[in-house]
Amino acid sequence: MCAMQTYTLMASAKINLYLEIIGDRPDGYHELVMILQSIDLGDRLELRPNGTQTFRLNCSHPQVPTDNTNLAYRAAQLMKQEFSQAFANYGGVDITLDKHIPVAAGLAGGSTDAAAVLVGLDLMWELGLTLPELQELGGKLGSDVPFCIAGGTAIATGRGEKLDPIEDIDHLWVVLGKYQSLEVSTPWAYQTYRQKFGDAYISDRPAVESRTFKVHSGPLVKAISHKDNTKIGQLLHNDLEKVVLPEYPQVNHLREVMQQAGGLGTMMSGSGPTVFTLCESQEAAETIKNQARLAIEDADLKFWVTKLSSNGIKVL
Ligand code: C5P
Repeated sequence: MCAMQTYTLMASAKINLYLEIIGDRPDGYHELVMILQSIDLGDRLELRPNGTQTFRLNCSHPQVPTDNTNLAYRAAQLMKQEFSQAFANYGGVDITLDKHIPVAAGLAGGSTDAAAVLVGLDLMWELGLTLPELQELGGKLGSDVPFCIAGGTAIATGRGEKLDPIEDIDHLWVVLGKYQSLEVSTPWAYQTYRQKFGDAYISDRPAVESRTFKVHSGPLVKAISHKDNTKIGQLLHNDLEKVVLPEYPQVNHLREVMQQAGGLGTMMSGSGPTVFTLCESQEAAETIKNQARLAIEDADLKFWVTKLSSNGIKVL
């Protein structure tokens, strides 16, 4: 058994600045074009060698499962399976998850925790994996995990796992609003989208695989590279709003209220139900938060003000 240190990691949440559904994939997922953005809101994970032959997960949030239905736990199991010799040498790990990212919120909370476990075990077991190797492992756990490992700002295609990093826009701030008791199932959102809009899917596989449709997100990518804040706000887009907002009127209302309160632009993140508004400053973000809180008096509604980030997983 090797002597090992404890690792503490910060795992960033993400928002979708752009989410376009292109079509079906042979594996049952959807072909997407997204622009993903890390934010400073994050979970804190501690990985401590426990001298046993098992992984144990503890979480500060009572509703988060700590068994293999938790993606962070599955990440540890995947590492054990892929690097059985390292596991035999180093033994099990206690993973303590200090949860700050809301659950089932469209912010990749579970995915980023899994990303942190991959990064942490790579360090603890001295595997020396490269970023592409870690991201390939991450892709086996979930579509957003590869992005969460690297973080920053990136175009994501395929299932969401094919990444092209673009310029950082970590000068911007964001207000997030979410009804705490409201969770939207991601499979439900995509299935409903398929039922309603599947007729318009691009069925030409070579066209899909050539990824020429990536140009659709071009104007936003250009606005990001020019740091044109006004255009960035105007060009936010999310196809999943078309199914989630009609089903959840309170989310639609929150979106309207936040949009009217100002900022650069307002959008739902991922499959929701979190709604975000991009802002040029912390003061602007706080003002929007306060206005929205006054307009909707509901103890279940929670807001966060945070900055866009260039970090995915940060080792402390
Ligand atoms: O990859 P992940 O497990 O995060 O995806 C959750 C669900 O979202 C999938 O089971 C699928 O229903 C849907 N999904 C999809 N196409 C994608 C990504 C996710 O249909 N590209």
